Amino acid sequence: MKATEIKKGIYWVGAIDWNLRNFHGYLTQRGSTYNAYLIIDEKITLVDSVKSYLTDEMLKRISTIIDPSKIDTIICNHVEMDHSGAIPKIVELNPAAKVYASPKGVSGLKAHYKKDWNFVEVKSGDVINLGKRNLHFLLTPMVHWPDNMVAYLAEDKILFSNDAFGQHLASSERFDDEYPLDIIMEEARKYYANIVLPYSSQVVKALDDALKLDIEVIANSHGIIWRKHIPEIIREYRDWSSNTLDKKVLIVYDTMWGSTEKIANAIYDAFEQKGYRIYKYCLQDNHISDIMTEVLNAEYVCVGSPTLNKSILPSVAGFLTYLQGLSPKNRKTILFGSYGWAKQNIKEMERYMTESEFQIVHTVNVNYIPGEEELLAIRNEVLEKI
Ligand code: FEO
Repeated sequence: MKATEIKKGIYWVGAIDWNLRNFHGYLTQRGSTYNAYLIIDEKITLVDSVKSYLTDEMLKRISTIIDPSKIDTIICNHVEMDHSGAIPKIVELNPAAKVYASPKGVSGLKAHYKKDWNFVEVKSGDVINLGKRNLHFLLTPMVHWPDNMVAYLAEDKILFSNDAFGQHLASSERFDDEYPLDIIMEEARKYYANIVLPYSSQVVKALDDALKLDIEVIANSHGIIWRKHIPEIIREYRDWSSNTLDKKVLIVYDTMWGSTEKIANAIYDAFEQKGYRIYKYCLQDNHISDIMTEVLNAEYVCVGSPTLNKSILPSVAGFLTYLQGLSPKNRKTILFGSYGWAKQNIKEMERYMTESEFQIVHTVNVNYIPGEEELLAIRNEVLEKI
């Protein structure tokens, strides 16, 4: 357990969650890290922390540099417990330590930990002097929670960006010039689609404010730290937050006896004929968080389910709930499925998609099993609508 120096006197002291596979419903195939940073100056400063079960790992890394009880300044950029979980232990070691957070951060920390620590509220533009260095604060609400802020260490040109620019990626390497860039970008994209997407407009504002700064290192709070490929990740964030859509369709469905899958294939044929890039996902075999990554720039998200009792298959309801929460904008859909005696499937999916403000371009509902002629007719109907 060692600390990694990211600039002279500034260390990564976080924790690596190698076996994490579920982050509030997000499938983290590559694990994650919680990045905490130690600044050695006249004030001994900890920027963010780690999940509580990894507190000892963080303390061991800090102890290779300094006695953790010497930490007298704690910056909490974000209350969520993957970043605040070890703060109680640090305050226990030094009860006089000041805890800096946004106003919503302070109220959030009180609500989480029920402690009256030595809190200091900060707002955008506030600066604290650490000795040789100055730490500037910029509030970035809703990237990812209302309390979020970022901190900028002016002398070293480091932006502590917390959730922004993160990736769920466990690695022994710390920097973007030490790890395959395509994997970092793939995980950053998945992270954006599953965590940041609902707040894209706030991301644009935060980017515009933060990027006026002269930045040499983006010290984010999950995954790989950016120091070589900063222009690339900023370009990607601008693209993802712009909601630019490609000529691309997702066909997402579950099937009971194969009828809904046959309809999915007929819809596939129509989009294929129109030259769309197509992603077909049966929900029995694909995780909703992986599908969500491809929603990021898809013009269409078509969804299919048979009727099950008075509703739809739970896998489809789960996907639609997840999709609704992440609120992609300006998307189109075709809803499809089959039924035996109750046509509830389309009604139920329409309810979700109307609430999610999708444009419903067409619906297809087949009694029991579609024959070859019906499938050809479905393909031709869809061709006329798209
Ligand atoms: Fe990584 Fe919103 O916490």
